[in-house]
Amino acid sequence: MFDIHNHLIYEFDDGPKSLQEAVDMLKEAEAQGITHAFATSHFQEIIPITMEDDYFRKLEELRNRLEAENVQVQIHSGSELFYHHFMNETVKQHRVCRLNGTSKYVLFEFPLYLKPTGYEEAIFQLKMDGYFPILAHPERYTFIQQDPEKIVDILKLGALLQVNTGSILGNFGRTAQRLARQFLELRLVSFLGSDAHRKEGRSFSLKPAIDEIRHIVDNGYIEELTHLNPAKILNNTEVESPPIPEFKNGGLFSRLRKIFTF
Ligand SMILES: [Fe+2]
Repeated sequence: MFDIHNHLIYEFDDGPKSLQEAVDMLKEAEAQGITHAFATSHFQEIIPITMEDDYFRKLEELRNRLEAENVQVQIHSGSELFYHHFMNETVKQHRVCRLNGTSKYVLFEFPLYLKPTGYEEAIFQLKMDGYFPILAHPERYTFIQQDPEKIVDILKLGALLQVNTGSILGNFGRTAQRLARQFLELRLVSFLGSDAHRKEGRSFSLKPAIDEIRHIVDNGYIEELTHLNPAKILNNTEVESPPIPEFKNGGLFSRLRKIFTF
């Protein structure tokens, strides 16, 4: 299985504090059946070249250590880019912002509690420049929790969605959990990520999350989420935008509103 969103580079962001902690996290990943993990450390608009060099040096160190300890998880480079207006320019200049270094896929995040402004144009610019933007954990943002229909606009702009496995399991609250499950039921999600940060507490959780959603989605879709779509990042081929389903009796919007009917 592939896990496309994790913090695995030690002493870099709010992820593992040591190389050993990262290795221990990846032993847990291996035990869950994860064969490929993307090391998507936090990056922002300003990326000093020394910071990018430090990232790739520590990534290589991690790969070497995994090989020495015979941990069978391949680590791919990447970032979780904090939203800013000119993400397309940042992505052009820094290979760390393109998943696997050379692909056209870009994982980005919004602020959790503030509504971002101008994101329509920023996503549009990424698309115009040939990139495939992936929005990290849409179910966690307050502005989407308050108005889930916003997700339709974001999909129509051409962004793909990555849901956190921790959200599926209820680790980020009931609203995020309901939203994550609803997005999955509607097949609006293209990728899953553990968003693992450390050995204890917030580590890999792909397998328990898959076990949890087996009764709401079919095996074919699970295969898409955990193998077929992420493999396209490595091959740099396009993951199609999910079709936005229409529903009778009020449509998709009323369906999403039901999330708040407890
Ligand atoms: Fe993250």
